[in-house]
Amino acid sequence: MAINQMDFDYIRKLVRDRTALVLSDDKQYLIEFRLSPVLKDIGMRSMQDLVTHLRISKSSHLQQRVIEALVTTETLFFRDNHPFAALRQSILPQLIRQRQSDRKLHIWCAACSSGQEPYSIAMLIREHFPELASWQLRLMASDISNQMLERAKTGYYSQHEVNRGVPKPLLDRYFQTQGKGWQLSQQIRQMVDFQQLNLAAPWPQTLPVMDMIFMRNVLIYFDAVTKKAILKKVRQSLRADGYLFLGGGETTLNLDAAFEPVQIDNVVCFRLRSNHSTNTR
Ligand SMILES: C[S@@+](CC[C@H](N)C(=O)[O-])C[C@H]1O[C@@H](n2cnc3c(N)ncnc32)[C@H](O)[C@@H]1O
Repeated sequence: MAINQMDFDYIRKLVRDRTALVLSDDKQYLIEFRLSPVLKDIGMRSMQDLVTHLRISKSSHLQQRVIEALVTTETLFFRDNHPFAALRQSILPQLIRQRQSDRKLHIWCAACSSGQEPYSIAMLIREHFPELASWQLRLMASDISNQMLERAKTGYYSQHEVNRGVPKPLLDRYFQTQGKGWQLSQQIRQMVDFQQLNLAAPWPQTLPVMDMIFMRNVLIYFDAVTKKAILKKVRQSLRADGYLFLGGGETTLNLDAAFEPVQIDNVVCFRLRSNHSTNTR
């Protein structure tokens, strides 16, 4: 289903206004490919019909469907391994020592897609840090896509998805077969609190200050102005001695001088510089 230039511009402006995601000039094919199933589903015959409907009705439900179809949601369990190894070997042992007196730990996966990232952290904690069961542990996971969040909450994954990253002992311990796929056990699912959050919109005042923020493989889709605005909010939501994890191809360099890259084991993560004073929490 082909899209003309005017409709293409309308769709990418809509996506940009609602999510801050930038669709470059060469993404016409992507829009055609990803919106074709939406068109079929809602019984429209052309991209032009869809855009006309979007223009006239301004239906936020239809807008959300278009956005959900266009976001890239690729993810996997224990993606890139090294961040999880560093968490296990160095970062969590250190944070546990530092937080002994208040016994609270707040971790946030911002842009969690279908849940593999927060559930990887939950399994790692259950496996290696059983003492945290008596702590106030908040593992929050958010995304802009309701469709992804609904999937994530079910904890149901296909054979292919578990093959991508779940080690056999964890599969045996924390998953049950369910139809053709697998479902995560209730004890892991209940550790994660999912909610919708648009990183490019104002963040809720109720967001607790975090010990660790995983914001991996999402900044890459934004322009520099949006990245800076989001990092400024991260700065205010991260504890002075907390950790920010970005994707392998992402950085704070040249975007926000308050952060410094720090190598921990085999991963580079980001910490607030000690002379940085914005976060007083
Ligand atoms: C490529 S996935 C990354 C998932 C996971 N963090 C990982 O690294 O495996 C990017 C996710 O960012 C989400 N996303 C895109 N724009 C967003 C926004 N403005 N606010 C919140 N989430 C957004 C998408 O819905 C998608 O699930």
